[in-house]
Amino acid sequence: MTANEIRQSFFDFFKERQHTIVPSASLLPQSPGLLFTNAGMNQFVPFFLGTEKAPYSPPRAADTQKCIRAGGKHNDLDDVGYDSYHHTMFEMLGNWSFGDYFKPEAIQWGWDLIVERWGFPAERLYASVYRPDKSLGDPSEFDQEAYDLWAKLFKSKGLDPVKHVVDGNKADNFWMMGETGPCGPCSELHVDLTPNGDTGGKLVNMDSDLCIEIWNLVFIQYNAEADGSFRDLPAKHVDTGLGFERVCSIYQGTNGFKDFSKKPTNYATDVFTPLFAKLEEISGKKYQDIYPESVEVDKSTLSAEMKEAVAFRVIADHIRTLSFSIADGILPGNTGRNYVLRRILRRAVRYGRTLGFTGDSLFLTQLVDTLVDQMKHIFPEMGTRREAIKETLTREEQSFNRTLDRGLGMFDKEAEKGQITGDFAFDLYDTFGFPIDLTELLCQERKLELDKKGFEKRMDEARTLSQAAQKKTIVRALDISSDVETEFTGFDEDSSEAKILEIHESGDSLLVITDRSPFYVEMGGQLGDLGILTFYKDGEFGEAIEVSSVQKIGQAVAHEVSKSATLAVGDTVALTIDVKRRRRIESHHTATHLLHWALHEVVSTDATQQGSLVTTDRLRFDFTSGALTAQQIADIEIKVNEKIESGDGVFYNEVPHADVKNRKDIMQFFGDKYGEMVRVVQIGGNELGLDGYAMELCGGTHIDTTSDIGIFKIKSEGAIASGVRRIEAACGVAAYDWARGVAEKNAKEEDELRARLETINAGFKAVGAEEVHYPEEARIMAAMLAQGTFDQVNTVFNNSLKHIQGLRDTVTAADKKLKKAQAGAAAAMADTALVELLENGGNIAEIFEGPANLLQELLNGLKKKQFSGAAFVIVDDGNRLHLGAFCGPDSIAAGLQAGKLIQELGPIAGGKGGGKPDQARGAAPQRDKAADLLAAAKEKLG
Ligand code: ALA
Repeated sequence: MTANEIRQSFFDFFKERQHTIVPSASLLPQSPGLLFTNAGMNQFVPFFLGTEKAPYSPPRAADTQKCIRAGGKHNDLDDVGYDSYHHTMFEMLGNWSFGDYFKPEAIQWGWDLIVERWGFPAERLYASVYRPDKSLGDPSEFDQEAYDLWAKLFKSKGLDPVKHVVDGNKADNFWMMGETGPCGPCSELHVDLTPNGDTGGKLVNMDSDLCIEIWNLVFIQYNAEADGSFRDLPAKHVDTGLGFERVCSIYQGTNGFKDFSKKPTNYATDVFTPLFAKLEEISGKKYQDIYPESVEVDKSTLSAEMKEAVAFRVIADHIRTLSFSIADGILPGNTGRNYVLRRILRRAVRYGRTLGFTGDSLFLTQLVDTLVDQMKHIFPEMGTRREAIKETLTREEQSFNRTLDRGLGMFDKEAEKGQITGDFAFDLYDTFGFPIDLTELLCQERKLELDKKGFEKRMDEARTLSQAAQKKTIVRALDISSDVETEFTGFDEDSSEAKILEIHESGDSLLVITDRSPFYVEMGGQLGDLGILTFYKDGEFGEAIEVSSVQKIGQAVAHEVSKSATLAVGDTVALTIDVKRRRRIESHHTATHLLHWALHEVVSTDATQQGSLVTTDRLRFDFTSGALTAQQIADIEIKVNEKIESGDGVFYNEVPHADVKNRKDIMQFFGDKYGEMVRVVQIGGNELGLDGYAMELCGGTHIDTTSDIGIFKIKSEGAIASGVRRIEAACGVAAYDWARGVAEKNAKEEDELRARLETINAGFKAVGAEEVHYPEEARIMAAMLAQGTFDQVNTVFNNSLKHIQGLRDTVTAADKKLKKAQAGAAAAMADTALVELLENGGNIAEIFEGPANLLQELLNGLKKKQFSGAAFVIVDDGNRLHLGAFCGPDSIAAGLQAGKLIQELGPIAGGKGGGKPDQARGAAPQRDKAADLLAAAKEKLG
């Protein structure tokens, strides 16, 4: 079977068992605690926690999931290339039961697929089951049920279960997504790959490539809580992960299980061979399928041949991680997952040098087409993002090649010192992205000593820092479960009559579940509603009770109210949202859709959404793109405001997802889970016509017509990661408040700038230079912003910005001009004074009234005129005394020193300073002591 056939065979097997085949989720995880999607189950977490209901019937699913394990709890990065079966990115085939089947079916089907359908020899299989090591505090109990199920299967093949079913403790047989979140005991299937297949299970979990795990069957029944406890989940689930590349490797490497004489390797499968063929073509080198004896090998002792083999594998592995991530909008950058990606890219570029790729070879970019053509039928985003992947790789590869060269230059310089310190190696790593093995290699070539310990110490410090900085996000399971379903009435109603179905206590609150509710629960970046709950009986309203939050429990909406409220199941109540608050949120939500549309019009249809938040007073929208120009920002603002002015209708359409999933004009996110029916939010066009100009799959609520938004104003646009931009904007009253705030701040700044200009002009007057006038212009009245169409308001606002910028520029220029004028005036004053002073002959002690820089001019003049005696000059600028001493060769010969003069005389006026024997400066605050100081100087210099 080819890799494609193996994948398809897996889908077919589970389709026959009523599983819905779903697309892989994006590598960008929905769970904020993860760096990357690291398991097939990630996208289903809400189903396990009970906060959402699985939309499949029966509730079963299967898929292939793109996974990256290169950071966080699951990290295989360092092994990649040195062994035959670890990757940074791999496909995980999986099947799931959401509160449906459990251990018996999961284990039976696992066996049926592996042994009966694919033909893995049962005598080479080992199943591990969970046995907690109580001395280590492992949770839960021995998994007797799984043991019995596996034992029966092995017995049916005449095999001894004592030999084939092995125990594992929490480290191996209790699967957790992260520190918190859904988890449970698991059973793994391992395959003996030794030529005779006779190791009797001795190699299981020994990190041997001759006995590798292929499938993990997890029986999810707990949630790991932040306090270290394990809480029972409302229902039990199955989560499995089968290593796709490993199955391909074993199947293809043994010629369909017929020949185990050679050790199978993932790299010898048709998953990797096309990439190697391309790499061979562009490097002119030949790939050899050879491996070091262990991943722990001292990498500097590898032969050149072995280094090349490793480089081939690292590059083939890394190009997959890079391309798939970029396709999902995760770009190389400086923090978090983006930084992990950048490091992977740099590792790849570095390994590229081993294959002879330098400067502008762009070998990574050249591999993209091969990979995309291989994968796009199963991961369509690879096809649609082909150019974006290439552009990103080209940019990154070029820029790292430059730093790599610069770093090499730095290294050569440092090498002259005869050794490389740990600090320098760390700087190379930190600033130039030099992996330590590169630095090591360079040292070996030049026979330099490298302080690796010092480097490791710095690394440990950095690691500690970055770990401390890592955000801990806690996945919390609900205490409460509910089977009821609340109908959401909030698309059409702000207040609804409802019946109380359940009441749960939770801390100091009651959670009130009703049959219907207009309250929107926070989702998709739209904040949830607040409001009130009122008794409603026989047409009479009772006392209003505040609803302080709403949350989803399964399919039910729970309204949080104070514990003191007297409510009973069966009561009829009126639920009313805070309408003003909701309208403001909706305004920002609809404006977000218009912004997304305008971005596509003005910038590119590649400007895809990365994140969104809508609140009462702002919207935040993250998207992939380079920096926008000022013109583009202005154009976007204008386009959105034109649509606001035209008052277009906003409609919701419920349609089957199948009908719209291929429509390019309806924005949707690949990899998002959509149910069978989806909601299209349409702006413009005919109601229900699906013919608007802005259409998006969206579950949020919106205003009725675009004119309700009022005005739309972009507050800022900037980068949040390489290739990802963020726009913050405000609508309606919030936009007005913001603009007024800016205008008021500008007015205050204008006052300050005018005051500064006055001081500057006083300076001009003092040196007899012409003053700078700021052309009078009417102050922009913040109040003017309160009225008018967007055009008027915008003009006023933009003028205000221009006005203040003009004033800033004028003041800065005047400042510079004044400094110049003062310098000119001081130079002229110094010239005149020196002529007189030098004519008199002898040593000099003198005081001047003038600008501070007169002092330096005087000292410069003395030097230029080659004055050979001693001088002590004081400049009183009206603020303080500036002191200068000068000693020419004769006076130095006579035992005088400028620095000493300042130190001796300065204190007379409370001052200090110092300098060299020939020139020194100081300052003194006590202007009233100027005469004493001068007298002392005269006496000293004679
Ligand atoms: N979630 C399980 C794993 O990743 C299947 O191993």
